[in-house]
Parts: sequence; C-alpha cells; structure tokens
Amino acid sequence: MGKSSNVVWHETHVGREDREARRGHKGATIWFTGLSGSGKSTLANELDRRLYEQGRFSYVLDGDNVRHGLNGDLGFSPADRTENIRRIGEVAKLFVDAGALVLTAFISPYRDDRDRVRNIADRPGDFIEVFVDCPLDVCEQRDPKGLYKKARAGEIPEFTGISAPYEAPEQAEITVNTAEMSVVEAVDFILEYLRTGQYLESSSNQD
Ligand code: ADX
Repeated sequence: MGKSSNVVWHETHVGREDREARRGHKGATIWFTGLSGSGKSTLANELDRRLYEQGRFSYVLDGDNVRHGLNGDLGFSPADRTENIRRIGEVAKLFVDAGALVLTAFISPYRDDRDRVRNIADRPGDFIEVFVDCPLDVCEQRDPKGLYKKARAGEIPEFTGISAPYEAPEQAEITVNTAEMSVVEAVDFILEYLRTGQYLESSSNQD
C-alpha cells in the first residue's frame, strides 16, 4: 500500500454509463457473505446462470477459486482475510465499472472489511450485501468439504465459526436463510430485489 507514486489516473473514453446502456442493465456488486457451507457459492452460481440466461453480463468471483490465483499468497489470519477482501473489493469495483453484475462468494467474516468495500463504491447502490444466513449446526451437518470435521479435530486452525469469528451483517440489503429457503426461492428473492431496485434496466435500454 502507498508504494505507487507518480501514477496518474487515466480517464477512459468509453464510460460506465455507455457500457451499461449497451448492456441494458446496471453494474453492481452482489456480495454474498456467510459461514463456510452456508450456500454462498451455490446461490452465486445459480444467480449467475439465471442472469446469463436473461442475457446479462454477470460473473462469479469465488473464494476457493480466487485463493488459487490472485490471492494464492494469503492464508486465514485476520490480516490475510482483510487483504483477501480488500483485493476482491477492488476487483469487483473494476467489474462494476465494466458494467457487470459481479457476484462474490467469500466468507468475508469481518464487518469492517465488508464496509470498506461498500465505501469504495462509486455510486450508492453499487454494493448489495447478501447475508447468507444459515445456523452453524446446519453448515456443520452439510460439511460439503469435510472441513468442519477437520476443524473440530483441531486440524485446521482459525476456522470460521469454530475457532475464528464470523460477524453477521447488521444492515444487509438482503438476507436469505438457506436452512429454510430452497436455492430457487433464494435466487428468486434476490432477482426480485434487482428488478425492483431497477438494476436490470438502464435509461437507454431499448428493449
Ligand atoms: S475469507 O474469510 O477470507 O473471506 P474465503 O471465502 O476467501 O475466506 O475462503 C474460505 C474457504 O477457504 C472456505 O470455504 C474453506 O473451503 C477454505 N478454508 C480453509 N481454511 C479455512 C479457515 N481457517 N477458515 C475458513 N475457511 C477456510
């Protein structure tokens, strides 16, 4: 941080509004947060599929995948998680500037980290926080990657929900309880939010 001196921001010829007008919808970050196994990736990917079928420009950034590449140097200490979320926030912001609906699926356990991403947005409404609310015992029963079992056995230190904290959102735009709602119901609910919030249209949209 702070090492990039003598760097000047370039204004672009094609603006975000132009890109949104061509696509016929707005750019935004739909930020899924919740425990491991709560359903973030499942919901993000299903929403992505539905948006794709509607001809929208959407893209999923997923914790496990991004940690293989861009953030392959980061672990799970509080400082590394903060840096993980900071980088994803910057990447998501670039996608939004490109007119995309970017769906991010990271535990993002710290409220301050998520708020920082919210606060770097160019426009109010660019950041939609989706709390994937699922009780720990249900996540632990699902245990799709067998990680809770390992964490309980003391094989994974600082595991979220077991030996590291998860700070639930206090004012998420959307909350979906995946212990009570089906995937389709949750995705329909998010799509309805996007529709009523006029994300899925832009002023120059002709169709
Ligand atoms: S975050 O806390 O920095 O937002 P992120 O979403 O990128 O986490 O990665 C979480 C995924 O990494 C989990 O779904 C799980 O597969 C894996 N993982 C490995 N170690 C841990 C750990 N100590 N705590 C949480 N998740 C872990």
